[in-house]
Amino acid sequence: MTATLSDLPWWKRATGYQIYPRSFMDSDGDGVGDIPGIVSRLDHLADLGVGFIWLSPVYASPQRDNGYDISDYRAIHSEYGTLDEFDRLVAEARDRGIGIVMDLVVNHSSSDHAWFQAAAASRDAPEHDYYVWRQGRPGGLPPTDRQAIFGGPAWTYVGAVDAWYLHLFSPGQPDLNWDNPALRAEIWDMMRWWIDRGIAGFRMDVIDLIGKDVDAGHFDEGPHVWDRLDEMHAQVLAGRDLLTVGESWAVSRETVGNYIGKPGPLAMMFHFDHVKLGWDDTFHKFRPREVTPLMLKREIIAWQTHLRDDGWDALFLSNHDLPRQVSRYGDDGADRVASAKALATMLHLLRGTPFIYQGEEIGMTNFHAASLSDVADLEVHGQYDGMMAAGLDHATFMDGVNLNGRDHARTPMQWDASASAGFTDGVPWMTPNPNYPGLNVARDRADPDGLFAHYRALTQLRRAHPLIVEGGFQAHLEDHPAVFAFTRGHREKRLSVLVNLTGQPQSLTVPDAMCGAGKPLVCTHDTRHGLQGDVRLAPWEAVALLRG
Ligand code: GLC
Repeated sequence: MTATLSDLPWWKRATGYQIYPRSFMDSDGDGVGDIPGIVSRLDHLADLGVGFIWLSPVYASPQRDNGYDISDYRAIHSEYGTLDEFDRLVAEARDRGIGIVMDLVVNHSSSDHAWFQAAAASRDAPEHDYYVWRQGRPGGLPPTDRQAIFGGPAWTYVGAVDAWYLHLFSPGQPDLNWDNPALRAEIWDMMRWWIDRGIAGFRMDVIDLIGKDVDAGHFDEGPHVWDRLDEMHAQVLAGRDLLTVGESWAVSRETVGNYIGKPGPLAMMFHFDHVKLGWDDTFHKFRPREVTPLMLKREIIAWQTHLRDDGWDALFLSNHDLPRQVSRYGDDGADRVASAKALATMLHLLRGTPFIYQGEEIGMTNFHAASLSDVADLEVHGQYDGMMAAGLDHATFMDGVNLNGRDHARTPMQWDASASAGFTDGVPWMTPNPNYPGLNVARDRADPDGLFAHYRALTQLRRAHPLIVEGGFQAHLEDHPAVFAFTRGHREKRLSVLVNLTGQPQSLTVPDAMCGAGKPLVCTHDTRHGLQGDVRLAPWEAVALLRG
């Protein structure tokens, strides 16, 4: 009996696509993306071949962190639309075979949430204990010296209750108190409410932080995280056919099995070891480090190998917090298209579920921020003073912003060459990347050798070949400094993949496991019908041949 794709869960077979609603498509001219705008572009995504959309937060929010600060978990942000429009998005997407995956942001709420308003007004309010309050130290000092991820102290004082609240991110994002069972019950209820609206799953924001032990100063992957996720699984997820993917900046190969092992509460984890290769130990993203092809591929190989028998990977190089992948790992100059194809081929043929970030399918790039006034992201502004005080110089900080900053992913989607890149008829909330007249969806899609066509071919290959989904992973030529070589195997079939991750030609001797004639599934340069002996790859060439 031959295994068919339909034996596997849908979220293993599908390709995902992340939408950052603020910057995707504006339908009403206010300069901010919205849900009707997304609906109007669903055919683009259906053509691309995606099976689900991870929607960055669309909940009611003061938008200090663009929706990662929620003021009402059961309402849609007014600039984005209404619940009716959301329901229509779910239905229209479903008609095209696309599920909607919601962003679950429950480590913290917004300080504008009614819970926090009540909590900060009175110690007697039932909601007071939904948040984390502690007494300060003598001399008006906060309870601890813990710094917030977006800069400044992680505690803010509230006179009305004479206590400090914890916020691991910005003061507008107070941490929820997961030790309180009543709070947990509210979250489970809220999740069920969205599931009942027909969503396809959840992406779980900084999920490892829900298990923190505040008094022990243990925040990342705190002692309760897996118990809490097990409880979530039992209360909400069990028996439902949902995609679940957790985000954690702390998860490692040592701990990932606790989230997704057999049996684990979640299906996949977004992990960031490959991203942190490009960061400094002290100044993090703001003092960038070079990431060589060898560093990148070794990290990927280590994760692929680790998850080979137990677990499932979430494959991504880009998201709304990261630079554009072609600028970070490829070449956003003369070899933009070729290098973007090479990176996409590599990622989509690995074992796991691939995620495309909006604009990646046309190779959108970083932009250049000349000064801090060109930057919108609160993280950059919140971190600047602290980084300078700790000894970083302004020029290096700006290098970090330009190479690793979050704004690059948030410039408006480049639909066409008209004013504001076709994103809005009004004044866009963020200036489009100035390269949009030559780099946009309309232009790329008109080119049969463009990136959209390449990504579409990759999603179609995934649908056509079970081996791309479920085949095992084996790396080859692991020490080659430039070429990523791997095979995917399933029964008698074998997929051989070679990707040149540099702008120089490369030579290699084909390893035995990859030798032989094969059907070309991907050939970005000359068509090859077999691999044998010594092979020379053109700059950024990617090849995938199927045998058996
Ligand atoms: C996650 C999100 C990021 C957000 C942060 C706080 O890392 O991806 O955008 O700012 O959590 O919610």
